[in-house]
Amino acid sequence: MALHIQTKQESAELGKRLFAGECTFFAGSNALENLPIESLPEIAFAGRSNVGKSSLINALTRQSALARISKTPGRTRQINFFDLSNKLILVDLPGYGYAKASKSKISGWTQLVHTYLKGRPTLHRICLLIDARHGIKPSDETLMATLDQAAVVYQIILTKIDKVSHQEIETKKNEISLLLNLHPAGHPEIIETSSRNFSGIPKLRASLAALAAPDQVS
Ligand code: GTP
Ligand code: MG
Repeated sequence: MALHIQTKQESAELGKRLFAGECTFFAGSNALENLPIESLPEIAFAGRSNVGKSSLINALTRQSALARISKTPGRTRQINFFDLSNKLILVDLPGYGYAKASKSKISGWTQLVHTYLKGRPTLHRICLLIDARHGIKPSDETLMATLDQAAVVYQIILTKIDKVSHQEIETKKNEISLLLNLHPAGHPEIIETSSRNFSGIPKLRASLAALAAPDQVS
């Protein structure tokens, strides 16, 4: 049988179709005991507080109020699961690195997030969001090291690129690429996005659609 290699246009079309489907919240977990049963492939959105995780899920699904967004960091306080047309599960995580929440809350969330990310067999990809203005911070490196050890693949997604110049984006990408060489579970491709002007969103949709089993994208 001849192998069909998907063209860029085909994968973009697949991504567009998948993310045009209905997306609904179906579970929120604040402890490992109440995580939903593993089923469809999951894509988790991780990163520091305020980096734009919830906004990115809303931009991908074109639903402005699906995942809650706030000007106040620390808004997402539990692991939220969204079902995308019964084909893929999008997972919005609480952010880490927010100093104003109580210490016990921060360590509770961080532990929950790390444990979920390390031990979820249906987790197909972690999108590790990095603010294009700030680059990778020590708290991101801690998570990267944990994921390297657990051999769980993560992909760096730059956020808020509408706030920086092309030159700054290139500089940040080069810095991150060098760092990724030291992290075995880091996916080499960095995707740059803006949830405000939607740049990079079609590319990310295409990349994530490829992770759903072929028979699940119709
Ligand atoms: P936590 O749930 O606290 O961890 O935050 P989060 O990572 O989910 O961030 P959220 O999506 O709530 O966004 C935080 C702030 O950044 C909000 O004020 C958003 O409007 C803003 N924001 C998110 N994405 C973008 C973007 O692409 N461009 C710009 N300019 N602002 C953005
Ligand atoms: Mg959030």
